[in-house]
Order: sequence, then C-alpha cells, then structure tokens
Amino acid sequence: MGSSLLSAIAKRLEGKVALITGGAGGIGKCTAELFCRHGAKVMIADINDELAHSVCQDIGPISASFVHCDVTDESDVQNAVDATVSKYGGLHIMFNNAGIMSTPTPNILHDDKAEFDRIFSVNVTGAFLGTKHAARVMIPARCGSIINTASICSIRGAVAPHSYTASKHALQGLTKNTAVDLGRFGIRVNSVSPYVVPTPMSKGLLKAADLPEEVYSNLKGVELKPEDVADAALYLGSDESKYVSGHNLVVDGGFSSSNTAFTIYDQRKE
Ligand SMILES: NC(=O)c1ccc[n+]([C@@H]2O[C@H](COP(=O)([O-])OP(=O)(O)OC[C@H]3O[C@@H](n4cnc5c(N)ncnc54)[C@H](O)[C@@H]3O)[C@@H](O)[C@H]2O)c1
Repeated sequence: MGSSLLSAIAKRLEGKVALITGGAGGIGKCTAELFCRHGAKVMIADINDELAHSVCQDIGPISASFVHCDVTDESDVQNAVDATVSKYGGLHIMFNNAGIMSTPTPNILHDDKAEFDRIFSVNVTGAFLGTKHAARVMIPARCGSIINTASICSIRGAVAPHSYTASKHALQGLTKNTAVDLGRFGIRVNSVSPYVVPTPMSKGLLKAADLPEEVYSNLKGVELKPEDVADAALYLGSDESKYVSGHNLVVDGGFSSSNTAFTIYDQRKE
C-alpha cells in the first residue's frame, strides 16, 4: 500500500474542527499537533500569545490558528468559540484542557482561599464555560465531542495539593452531569485523566515538592508522555468513540489500581 494512501486512511479527524484551550503548551500543544496530522482544523485558545503563535507557525497556518482566551473570562470563551465557527465553519471537538497547579503546602492550615479560588476558576469554571459555549453551537448541529482534561487526581487523593485534587474531582462531576444533559442532543462529554506527564506544570510541582522527576510508576519500561494523552484525546474526539460518553479515560499505567502502602506484589522483584 502506498504511503499517501496509508496516511489518507489513517486520518481519524478529517473534516472536523477542534478548539483546544491551553493549546500553547504541554499536553494541549501536543494534541493540537496530533489533531492536525489527523486532518482536523484546530483553534488554539490560550493566554500565552507568543507561545501559541509559534505553535501555529510550526503546525502551519492552514490547519491551526490562535485566539487569545483566558478560560476564566466568559466573554473570552464566547469569543473563542465564535472565532472558531467563523474561521472553520463549525465546532466538532471542544478540548477543555487549560489547567493550573498550586504550590504544595505542608498542610491545609497553610492554604490560602484566594489561591484555592484561582485554581477552581481555571480548572473548573474554565471547563464549565468551555462546555457551555461549545454546547451553544453543538446543540443546533446535534453532534459534538467535549473532552475535559482531568487528572489521576480526579480519582485519587494525596498526589497533588488540596485545591488541585478538589478541582479535578469537581471536573468529573461536571463531565458526568453534562454528559447526561448534552447526550439528549447527541453530544458526548468525556474526560481524560493522566498520571504525571513531563510538562512545565508537573516539573514545577515536583520541584516545589522536592521530589525527583522520575516518580513512582506501576508500569515498568514505559514512560508517560504528552503524546499518550493526545492519543487518548484523539480517540475521544474521533468517531471511534461514538458510543462513549460520561467516561473518565484514565491514562496512568495502572497507578490508580495499586496501593503503594500495601501490596502482595513486591515492586523491587520480578
Ligand atoms: N502534566 C501533568 O502531569 C498533568 C497530569 C494530569 C493532568 N494534567 C492536566 O493537563 C492539562 C494541561 O496541563 P499541562 O501539563 O500541559 O500544563 P502546561 O502548564 O504545560 O500547559 C498549560 C497551558 O494552559 C495555558 N493556560 C493556563 N491558564 C490559562 C487560562 N486561564 N486560560 C487559557 N489558557 C491557560 C498555559 O498558558 C499553557 O499553555 C491541565 O488541565 C492539567 O491539570 C497535567
């Protein structure tokens, strides 16, 4: 089979339009690149204009563009959705991926309310606004896939600070509720939940917590990369997952199935 025919068959998002928040860095950037390779048109919505601009230049102006958007600001999110529809003629995939991490504190007495609110406003309110405005254009079209980047912290405690863990649990609630609400209109809502991925965010957390960059992993011989999370988002955005909704796709190599404090399987030996 010729390579051009192979790549035509392998394109899984041909004809689709995606909006990716936090698409200028880390997981979002990697997903923007992958979506475009699979034939999608992508709008990157981010607060980092310089980085977003350079990502679009690398991908190429035909497939990717950029709109300045702070996901905590409803008018910015509304504008990002409208700009996507006006540039590419529709919106099929909304990837609510922008997220932030707080600095770890020794215990809750050291936690600051303003910081807690800041984390929630990006990680939860941002996804709420993205879902609301994506739904505004997806409901009349009677189709669409909304994907939220949650985290292993959406199902496990003590991996990250309270605010972050609580925000990702809340995001699961939003995913489930909106999956039921929007399912009535043929729109799917899912989340993807990675374990620690090497990006500026996780490197910052590990450094602040004085932890080594190589963290405990259940699955030996494989390293979790942003590409693995992008692959999960590709599945959820494509028609291959057409009957999957309200699902939390955990990408953690089995970490959440393990109990590091008590196990009959010795991590040191075969
Ligand atoms: N890196 C990890 O280990 C990890 C693990 C699980 C989940 N996640 C989640 O993955 C998502 C992406 O994280 P990442 O590791 O790629 O982080 P990152 O810091 O590398 O990238 C985040 C991007 O979001 C943008 N952003 C931040 N605040 C924004 C706002 N208010 N409006 C719009 N854009 C904003 C940043 O400019 C940046 O481009 C987040 O939701 C994060 O919680 C990350």
